[in-house]
Amino acid sequence: MNLKGKLLLFGLAVISTLYGVNKAVSQEGGQAISDEDLALYKSGINPGEVFAQEVGGDLFRKPMGTSNKSCASCHSEEQLKKVVGTYPKYNKDLNAVISLQQRIQMCQKLNQGVDKPFALNSQENTALVTYLKYIASGEKINVDTSSNPVVKDYYEYGKYVYELKRGKRNLSCAVCHDYAAGKVLRMQRLAYLGVQREDGMKGTAAAAHWPAYRMTKSKVFTLEQRFAQCMSQASMKVLPLGSKEMVALELYVTSLANGATIEAPGLVR
Ligand code: HEC
Ligand code: HEC
Repeated sequence: MNLKGKLLLFGLAVISTLYGVNKAVSQEGGQAISDEDLALYKSGINPGEVFAQEVGGDLFRKPMGTSNKSCASCHSEEQLKKVVGTYPKYNKDLNAVISLQQRIQMCQKLNQGVDKPFALNSQENTALVTYLKYIASGEKINVDTSSNPVVKDYYEYGKYVYELKRGKRNLSCAVCHDYAAGKVLRMQRLAYLGVQREDGMKGTAAAAHWPAYRMTKSKVFTLEQRFAQCMSQASMKVLPLGSKEMVALELYVTSLANGATIEAPGLVR
């Protein structure tokens, strides 16, 4: 049997025997939006874009901190749109991989002289990262996973976190997004998160369209917040935003979307 066949069989076995998958999916609150309705929503205005332009764009141009400088006074959109797809990225000063959200915090602190940068789960930090991803639409996702030992370590750790089974249902990201990928459960498609899997299955290239506006929650969420929501549904302990685990997971999931064109913010269930 070829790999595809094996994965398919394994996927089916996972669905029928792992009660945990079905249960966790059914717990996605208020998600009864069919593919048809989704298509209809997508033909209208994306509230996430309005949020990016109006809230994010305003913050980008607003002078802040002791420097009284705005992001825009130091950075052009032309410059920033080229680097957005390279995050999470290695930072020399910290000798660590950081997310774009953390790079925003660094600039607030070090370059704007803001005492308390916007928290990772704040509406402001989300608005800024959504704005940056929005202006980078049309550029490619292109994260580095191997140019130095620290980056390699983050990548391997992210893959480990992705595959690690946790929580009382013993689920991992991989169980739903790899082994059971392609299955539809309660109108929810379990999708592969990359561009294309080795066996040819097409994925959603998730990192290219997050942050995204979730219609079922009427709000824009970041990629790490989406991870946290999946963890919570699957009864896994939720990892803190910005932790080494979360950033490593973000690097790994983003690397699966390498080469995909950024189209953000997305409009999703
Ligand atoms: C006083 C000037 C200044 C201000 C204000 C400023 N930055 Fe920066 N920014 C910098 C410098 C300097 C760097 C570091 C470049 C480097 O490390 O190569 C940087 C780096 C960055 C990077 C990473 C670029 C890369 O190549 O990886 C991003 C993204 C960024 N800033 C976004 C912002 C945002 C968003 C704001 C507003 C919240 C902001 N910056 C405010 C000076 C500034
Ligand atoms: C029980 C199954 C399950 C588990 C376990 C799970 N997810 Fe999900 N995930 C889903 C479902 C269902 C969706 C929503 C699909 C939709 O919107 O149609 C989703 C959506 C996502 C999305 C958005 C996909 C896109 O293209 O917009 C990302 C990213 C994601 N999950 C990452 C993760 C990560 C990382 C983990 C591990 C921490 C994880 N998920 C664990 C079921 C799961």
